[in-house]
Amino acid sequence: MNNNILSFKENICKIKDLKSFYIKKISLKNFRNHKSLNLNLKNSSILIYGGNGSGKTNILEAISLLNQGKGLRKANIENFLNQEKIHSNENKTWGVNVDFVGPNGQFNIGTGLKKNGLNKSRIAKVNSDYTPLSSLGEILNISWITPQLCILILSSMSEKRRFIDRLTMSIDSSHLNRVYKYNKLFRQRNKILMQPNSDKTWLDTIETQISELSISIIARRLDLLEELENLYNFELKNNHLTEHFPSVGIIINGKIEKLLQEKPAIEVEDYIKSELKKSRSDYELSVSGPNNSIIEIFNRIDNKNFDTSSTGEQKLILISIILSHARLLNDKFDMAPILLLDDIIEHLDNKHRTALFLEVSKHKAQSWFTSTSMDAFSEYPSFIEKINLQEIKENFDGNYHYRYGDI
Ligand SMILES: Nc1ncnc2c1ncn2[C@@H]1O[C@H](COP(=O)(O)OP(=O)(O)OP(=O)(O)O)[C@@H](O)[C@H]1O
Ligand SMILES: [Mg+2]
Repeated sequence: MNNNILSFKENICKIKDLKSFYIKKISLKNFRNHKSLNLNLKNSSILIYGGNGSGKTNILEAISLLNQGKGLRKANIENFLNQEKIHSNENKTWGVNVDFVGPNGQFNIGTGLKKNGLNKSRIAKVNSDYTPLSSLGEILNISWITPQLCILILSSMSEKRRFIDRLTMSIDSSHLNRVYKYNKLFRQRNKILMQPNSDKTWLDTIETQISELSISIIARRLDLLEELENLYNFELKNNHLTEHFPSVGIIINGKIEKLLQEKPAIEVEDYIKSELKKSRSDYELSVSGPNNSIIEIFNRIDNKNFDTSSTGEQKLILISIILSHARLLNDKFDMAPILLLDDIIEHLDNKHRTALFLEVSKHKAQSWFTSTSMDAFSEYPSFIEKINLQEIKENFDGNYHYRYGDI
């Protein structure tokens, strides 16, 4: 295997590691500690390095907002605004703008805060036209691993489901919308049920929609897991380089998942509808659906569960999932997610660091690393743009231009 890695390393050094999905330019305005930051980049992967608190994770967070959702810190839209602006009389908005290049051409994508009276929302524009946030996933995909992600996934089953839902969004950009809609309909239904004379026809309509959404959310999650399982099986058989990362199994268990294996979807939908109807008068009755699914993540080689693994093993499991998901999108959908790897390298031993570098070098899209120093990156097997964040702040007046010649 080591020989395998070495020969691969030599090969990859010979070729220039050009990315076909990459951010060419990113501008942040009043975004967290970056009042104005402009990075002009080429089609390579990126390392942002600098001291603690210099704003490295904030840059990755800004990129994570180029997809639907709350980004890699799960923050509220008000928290992104630079604190000094909160108390100023100027326009209190923040914005992220990128030029993204993919095989289908170049797109300008912007997202930011929009106020409408007291309402605040995040909006997106593609090439200056307003676009629903859910459509951004059709242009670019983003995946991330952060030190907090492990803790979050360990913290609750709903976070495990959220993690799987984000991965599923990459194979179906409407997936998260369905999840949001499902939860919204449930809240609406609860409100109606609280009223003394609840409108039965309205309840019927809402419950029909909830049942339909339950099936499609669960079915799409299962589709993704099946694709990942097939990929792992294929790669295990073919002695793929990624054997350095654990082969991961993910299982979703739940009443609806089980029924979908036994009965046609339409019958399962009717079953959910009847359960919902029964639970109108019996609040104790919990209704089976995507919010009750139990997700188990484990190492397929030693069967060790994610929750009882060591912190290092948990990181490797997550890296393995994110990388295999990236390969799946590469191979099957000709789509490569931008990978955001926040503070990951310093925590890996040499073997896994080399394996991760090799994998990322092969990946068709740009990866963004953060680290407090560039030391570990001398071993990166192909070109990586190393950006010293402190230097930009001191010498470039918020404007950084790629300076190392075209690749
Ligand atoms: N809304 C905001 N306005 C201004 N500054 C903010 C805002 N939100 C966060 N910050 C600050 O941004 C700074 C940089 O945070 P960030 O997490 O990006 O640092 P980092 O370079 O990743 O540090 P570390 O190496 O510790 O991970 C922090 O000092 C934080 O307090
Ligand atoms: Mg950080």
